[in-house]
Amino acid sequence: MEQQAVTTAYKRLASTYDRFFGPVFEQGRQRALRKMGCQAGQHILEVGVGTGLSLPQYPDGVRVTGIDVSEPMLERARRRLNGHADRIDLAVMDAQDLEYEDDSFDKVVAMYVASVVPDPDAMIREMKRVCRPGGELYIVNHFSRDRGMMAKLERVAAPLSELVGFRPLFPLQDFLSMAQLEEVEIEPVNAFGYWSLIRAVNR
Ligand SMILES: C[S@@+](CC[C@H](N)C(=O)[O-])C[C@H]1O[C@@H](n2cnc3c(N)ncnc32)[C@H](O)[C@@H]1O
Repeated sequence: MEQQAVTTAYKRLASTYDRFFGPVFEQGRQRALRKMGCQAGQHILEVGVGTGLSLPQYPDGVRVTGIDVSEPMLERARRRLNGHADRIDLAVMDAQDLEYEDDSFDKVVAMYVASVVPDPDAMIREMKRVCRPGGELYIVNHFSRDRGMMAKLERVAAPLSELVGFRPLFPLQDFLSMAQLEEVEIEPVNAFGYWSLIRAVNR
């Protein structure tokens, strides 16, 4: 997938994103936030923060930086900052080339982004680089199946990835061997457990 195609897809989707992808993905966001157990004083990076649907769920006292490559998506996230602008920073930035120093964050999370960025390997490398040693990495994503009805649908949808703005064929095993994560925990989330919440420690 080309970044330009992804950016065009999210420019088109921005105004309707919350209506269509708000509820469908909400359980995964809530589970990730609960598992992250963010504590006051911690600094969290949310990669691909989109319209900021997760932002109201961070506890008081937690500093959050959210980045996204899509200005129209971030514009909607900014509207959610009422009363929280002092502890939440938003910036237009490419997840594959983060502008932060090494070891800048306690926890780094990417929800529904790994199968959207053109180079997920680069995104994970950058997430690890900016997360402090011993910090935590969280990924929520759909990973494709190798059998059953959903596997057939994913194969049919694969040629449309530029149009839909994500990669339907994205096997978990391929992602894990590419990402080289440590102390990995995986749990199913959302309808039919069709998405996964991955937690890893940054070693
Ligand atoms: C499916 S949305 C997920 C948004 C949000 N995390 C949520 O829970 O609804 C994917 C997001 O990834 C963003 N994105 C795509 N490529 C990116 C990149 N290279 N760097 C940063 N964000 C990117 C898109 O603009 C979009 O906002």
